Amino acid sequence: MLKSTGFARNGDKANSDFFETYLQRLLEARDRSGLTAMIGRIEALMITVEPGNSIEYIAELALMTPYHYLVTLDSPRHLTHILRIDMNSPDILLREVKNPDYYDIFRNLNDLHPSGSKRPHSRYLGEVLRVSDRKAVLELQQAREFRFFSPDALEKLDLPTNVSISKPSPYTQNVIGYIERAVDEVRVYHPLGKCSILPRVQDAYQMAKELQKKLNIGDLILPIDHLATRVYSQNREAALLEYLALSSYYYWGSYDIHDQNSSTNVCKSVRPLAESESPAKVFTANNLPYCVNHLDGLPSPTENFVRNYGARLHHIALSIKDGERDGRENIEFVVDAIASQGKDFLLEVVGSREEGLKQIFSAASPFSALIIEYVQRYGDFQGFFTRENVALLTEAAGIEESFAGKLL
Ligand SMILES: [Fe+2]
Repeated sequence: MLKSTGFARNGDKANSDFFETYLQRLLEARDRSGLTAMIGRIEALMITVEPGNSIEYIAELALMTPYHYLVTLDSPRHLTHILRIDMNSPDILLREVKNPDYYDIFRNLNDLHPSGSKRPHSRYLGEVLRVSDRKAVLELQQAREFRFFSPDALEKLDLPTNVSISKPSPYTQNVIGYIERAVDEVRVYHPLGKCSILPRVQDAYQMAKELQKKLNIGDLILPIDHLATRVYSQNREAALLEYLALSSYYYWGSYDIHDQNSSTNVCKSVRPLAESESPAKVFTANNLPYCVNHLDGLPSPTENFVRNYGARLHHIALSIKDGERDGRENIEFVVDAIASQGKDFLLEVVGSREEGLKQIFSAASPFSALIIEYVQRYGDFQGFFTRENVALLTEAAGIEESFAGKLL
């Protein structure tokens, strides 16, 4: 039996007694129920963008990531583009809303927030996890009070009906999907309408991939390393427990980022999978809620982000191959090449070989509002950040966001 407890704990952020007690109970119950054994890796990420924005976003992703355009599924209210690296890493289901006046629950979540409502359709929806028995997992989770969209509702939302999808989390506003796939079976999403390769999408993708090749960076950008979600201060522990109840991840640990009044909290797969196969899940939360901020006057970029956009995915981090090219560290080489094409980064590359890793944040995508992080690790460094790096990255994202907020 897979065991979700007993992993070494990292970090220095103290949790409440409630969290520690229920974490242990939750993971033990999950193992006993068979859910840990039935739920596997992250198979896909789902992102929605505004009408007319998906082609440019695919070109951006084709340049900045290893993703390839595979095919488009045309359903009544959305075009769903399937982006893939290979079967060893998660797909991206990139959904473009067809009609700007379209309303659904995901748009409602955006409309509630001042910055989120400026791009009303654009948001990261959540992850699809691979399961060995979808019906059994769904029944067990529903018996544990987790709520799911009905098949009819999924059809109306143009979401794949061979995936069971939870209602948005009250803590992260993300969903979790479950898809069943046999060993060696290809991933399919159905029905989602007519399936074809759209020439205008293929052309934009190919141009961007050729540019990536010309810049000599294609082999240096590796699959996704982690997905970082921002939540309200008071929801940090509940968001972690909820994700652990719905997945087969374990709690890796939390770091207090005192300078930015926040913490970084990490969950990883209980299976011995590389992050490239099933990315780590990171949750970031302010240490103190905004309502007491006037007393201490501490920086609060994480809480500000959540108030402006709602709880949601903040960045997708991709690994950079360790090494050097043309006398520069690979991460510097990649960033310089991409910056030369007019893409902005929020700060210089931070970190060092001695600290174990280097990191950088891109500017938020104008299409998805998501930031791309690049991370290059040295030797066998296993961490996701250094405290100083996270403080600098969080600060830079906060400055950009408050600046963007003023422009809106
Ligand atoms: Fe990160």
